This record gives sequence, structure tokens and C-alpha cells, in this order.
Amino acid sequence: MSKIRVAVFGCGAIAQRRHIPEYANNENVELVAFADPVKERAEEMAAQYGGTAYTDYQELLKNEKLDAVSVCTPNYLHAPMTIAAANAGLHVLVEKPMASNAEEGEQMIEAARKNGVYLMVGHNQRLMPPHVKAKEILDSGKLGKVLTFRTSFGHGGPEGWSLDGRDSWFFRKEEAVMGAMGDLGVHKSDFIRYLLNDEIVEVAGFIGTVHKEGTDVDDNATCIVRMKSGAVGTLMASWTHYRAGDNGTVLWCEKGAMKIGTVHGDEVIVELTDGTVETYKVGAMATNEKQVPSGVIDEFVECILTNTPPRISGEEGLRSLNVILGAFESQATGKIVKL
Ligand SMILES: NC(=O)c1ccc[n+]([C@@H]2O[C@H](COP(=O)([O-])OP(=O)(O)OC[C@H]3O[C@@H](n4cnc5c(N)ncnc54)[C@H](O)[C@@H]3O)[C@@H](O)[C@H]2O)c1
Repeated sequence: MSKIRVAVFGCGAIAQRRHIPEYANNENVELVAFADPVKERAEEMAAQYGGTAYTDYQELLKNEKLDAVSVCTPNYLHAPMTIAAANAGLHVLVEKPMASNAEEGEQMIEAARKNGVYLMVGHNQRLMPPHVKAKEILDSGKLGKVLTFRTSFGHGGPEGWSLDGRDSWFFRKEEAVMGAMGDLGVHKSDFIRYLLNDEIVEVAGFIGTVHKEGTDVDDNATCIVRMKSGAVGTLMASWTHYRAGDNGTVLWCEKGAMKIGTVHGDEVIVELTDGTVETYKVGAMATNEKQVPSGVIDEFVECILTNTPPRISGEEGLRSLNVILGAFESQATGKIVKL
């Protein structure tokens, strides 16, 4: 079988640390081209992995014969790049948040549908080993119904991650659209929807810029959410966890509690009401400092190879984004927003 020909738009941190190496490790993929307006970044990737470097993704699309692209660019470019690639007949793996707003998200889904290509969103939290284990335990029914929960994601901010550091697009609203909520909050709205197999129906958001200077995006958010099932929980996103960064979730259920990623070493802990405590060491959660394979790229390639629609679809990405957009509406209006 011939290899899937892939191009990567944006050669920054997520492309260099996850997408490109994970494509390179996949024997069914040929990396064909890279686009980044910072020419050296695209050239460096082409030199290291083979293929052609471009500064303009549209030129890349015109010149190259491709099957799929990864969109790893600042958030405001996700929609135009995805739509252009879908209209060129290519499958698209787009980073999160999938779009700047709901209309764009819908247009992306429609572009993929009408061109008969797959659209997948890079919600890699679903695939992290502790999260996979937690879902398996919850689905087994041993904890009963989820009643309340908290889920949070915090680190010291993108200055420690983005290739452009403190000068990054992450801090500019025009390019990022949102701050910690688009970076981290959307991971958790996606994860909690997925884990509980449920939808968020109401959201109240307290969102603001608490500490970062010289930015017009949010650096912290605390939200209260209600699920369709009736379960209520909090969802936090922070760029000011300068120490003790967190990617933890705790569920309190009818028959006990589950702690996910809250204790270093024991990634999932189940405490049952009968006194039993079970600990599962299933492999670490990725952090900015310690990258582990995301699994997202292999899953995207597998979907293409086997003609299977991606489970982390555009529709899923949009539902998770809509929760975050609802939280911003709540912050702006001072009201609880129904989704
Ligand atoms: N799934 C995850 O866990 C995860 C983690 C980090 C970032 N992300 C997402 O990945 C995306 C990229 O973030 P990053 O961390 O790599 O940022 P980054 O700042 O490190 O890199 C962004 C790159 O995009 C390039 N770029 C800007 N305009 C471009 C254009 N017109 N064409 C091609 N490239 C262009 C920049 O020059 C830069 O090299 C964002 O949407 C972010 O939210 C996802």
C-alpha cells in the first residue's frame, strides 16, 4: 500500500514535539512538506525529516500532491487553513481549539463533509493513559453514577512552551482569540464530556487576566458546569500555576471516588465506599516538560488507512469549544449560560 502523504502547517512547538516526530515514526506516512512564515523553522523540519519547506501554506497546497495535513498554527488560522485543505480534497487533523467561534467550526465540518474528507481535532487528553484507564473504570459501572466533580488544567503559561516565548501569539487576542481557556480549558471541557459520556448543559464562568502583564487574553478561569445527567462540577484553566501545575480530575460518585492525575506516581486512584482503595499506575500524563507520544497522529493515520471516521471528530471538537464560548458569554453577561 502506498504511504499517506502528509504536510504540516505551522512548525512550532506542537508540530516539532508531537505531530512531526509522530508522523515520522509512523511507517504508513511520508512527510512531504512543511509551511511556516518563519522560513528557518520550515527548512529545519524539511532538512531533518525530508520534504519541501514553504513560507506560504497556499503555495504548498498548490504545488504538492497530498492526502492529509496537520494544522498546528495560531488559533485564528485553524478555520481558513482547514477549509482550504478540505477544499483541496485533503483529510485534516486540526489542533485545539478547533476554531475561533461556532460559525467557523460549523463551516469546517461542512467543508470536510462536502469534500468527503475526515476532520479530526487534536484533543489528545482523551488518549493519555490515566484518562484511558479512568474511562474504562467509570464505564465498568463499579463507581455508579457521577454526582459531582472537579477538573483542572494549569501550568505556568505558554511563555515556557511556545517557540516564540513571551512574544508568542498565545498572548495576543487577535491571533489566539482566547488565552488559558482556549489553551487548557477546552481540553478539560472535551475530557469531561468524553469521560462522563455526557453533555454540559449549563455553564457559569469567572474568567479574567489575574497576573500576566501585556496581554489581552485571559490567564485564569474557574467555571461551574452542570451535566445533562444532573452532575455538577468545576472546570479550571490557569496559566499562573508557576509551581504545582495540575492536570487532575476528581469524580465523586454513588459508590466512591476516583482521583485521576492528582498524585504523582499513582495516576488513577479509586476509593470505594466499602473502604477498598485501588491504585493504577498506567503511565504518566504528558506535561510541557515531559512529552510523551500523544497517540493522536497514529489514530488519525489509522482512520485514513481503514476508512473509519475519526471519533474525535469536528462535531466533538465543536461541542467542547461551545462550552468554552458559553463560559465567556457567562463572564460577559454575569448570567448562567444554557448550551
Ligand atoms: N494538543 C495539545 O496538547 C496542544 C499543545 C500545545 C499547543 N496546541 C495548539 O497547537 C497550535 C500551535 O501552537 P504551538 O504551541 O505549536 O505554538 P508555537 O507558537 O510554538 O508555534 C506556532 C507556529 O505557527 C507558525 N505560524 C504562524 N502563522 C503561520 C502561517 N500563516 N502559516 C504557517 N505557520 C504559521 C509560527 O511561525 C510558529 O512557528 C495552537 O492552536 C495550540 O492551541 C495544542
